[in-house]
Amino acid sequence: MRKKIFVRTYGCQMNVRDSEVICGLLRKEGYKFTDEVDKADIILFNTCSVRQHAEDKVWSQVGRFKNKKGTVLYENRPLIGIVGCIAQNYKEKIFEQAPNVDFVVGPSDIDKIPGIIKRIFRGQSPSGTVPSTLFEMKIWETDGDSRPEEIYHTGFYEDKEHAYVVISEGCSNFCSYCVVPYVRGPLRNRGYKDILKEIEEAIDKGITKITLLGQNVNAYKSQSQCVSLPEGDKVTMSQVNFIDLLKIINGIKGLKEFSFITSHPKDTAIELFKAMEDCAKLKKYLHLPVQSGSDRILKLMNRGYNRKFYLDLINNYRKIVKGGQVTTDIIVGFPTETQNDFQDTYDLVKNVQFNAAFIFKYSPRPNTQAANMVDDVLKSEKEKRHRLILELQKGISKEYAKSGY
Ligand code: 5AD
Ligand code: SF4
Repeated sequence: MRKKIFVRTYGCQMNVRDSEVICGLLRKEGYKFTDEVDKADIILFNTCSVRQHAEDKVWSQVGRFKNKKGTVLYENRPLIGIVGCIAQNYKEKIFEQAPNVDFVVGPSDIDKIPGIIKRIFRGQSPSGTVPSTLFEMKIWETDGDSRPEEIYHTGFYEDKEHAYVVISEGCSNFCSYCVVPYVRGPLRNRGYKDILKEIEEAIDKGITKITLLGQNVNAYKSQSQCVSLPEGDKVTMSQVNFIDLLKIINGIKGLKEFSFITSHPKDTAIELFKAMEDCAKLKKYLHLPVQSGSDRILKLMNRGYNRKFYLDLINNYRKIVKGGQVTTDIIVGFPTETQNDFQDTYDLVKNVQFNAAFIFKYSPRPNTQAANMVDDVLKSEKEKRHRLILELQKGISKEYAKSGY
């Protein structure tokens, strides 16, 4: 009988896309999928490490399967795999924290998952020998630097009309609170021809809407030789940057609509807004995380811009991109955040009138610069600040909803 797999995805859209890629690879190998965790032979948790809360959710789910562990290897219990950012963050230490986990695979090694599952079911340890103890069966793959390009071309998308397309992986910004550069590695751009090939293949399968994905999409750059413009002209470009990429994608036949996430303010400029206005198929939507409205905190966060720079961007965006929507991310309670710093953030949210804002309480992450600072804002104070901005934003979003925005 064909083995059934249950996949649960936590975290950002990048993980959603990674899960699709993993499912595509496993489907090619003949595995089936199930939505019922109790019927699964293999359970995959594609995990997020961005905040402690995100990790805790995974540990409690993994813990549910503790009692099912049989004495006979892999009989009467599902195989459990942890993939994604927690896998990369903790590597083989996961087996100490959760002994019922069988394999651990980091984001740059997802192409190895089918082989690992096969090996475990065959009863082979990583060295190829038959293990004498369960621990020898533990497999972890977390050393990959980058993914093979082919894995994006399995053509597996959860949705019939919409596809996520990864344009870059990793991040080299090292915002002081963020674990992403440590778990996803430095920024690596996919070649633009590979991206276009993936989009064209997706369109052939009936996809009409695309979301371009990356931790910081507007830092995208790709080497190139020759590009076809929508008008049918061919030009040679020394480099395709994000704006060029948007223009090329806008010209793809059969594509009806596309968008992109996430943008970093320091890499955002008027030229992007002009391109957004000019590209008819591009959604007039910008996710531009501000994180804080206080210059002092922005500096400590290593964000590379100040409050004025951000507000000027928003003004220009609204002037140039007619009817453009804008959303943001905010962290409250960063180490040393005073009442005045918080007030700056509150005022910025009031001033900008975001269409939506995602508000997070600061959570220290291993390896990050900020983890060396004392997490000195009381939990109750973080909760209060979180609630205050949430309420403010709720009111703003409600007004937008009333006006049909
Ligand atoms: N604590 C709280 N929020 C965080 N984010 C990233 N790292 C942390 C952290 N250590 C938030 C940021 C980011 C979003 C995806 O998650 O706001 O934009
Ligand atoms: Fe993290 Fe900053 Fe990179 Fe975003 S830009 S992924 S917050 S390091």
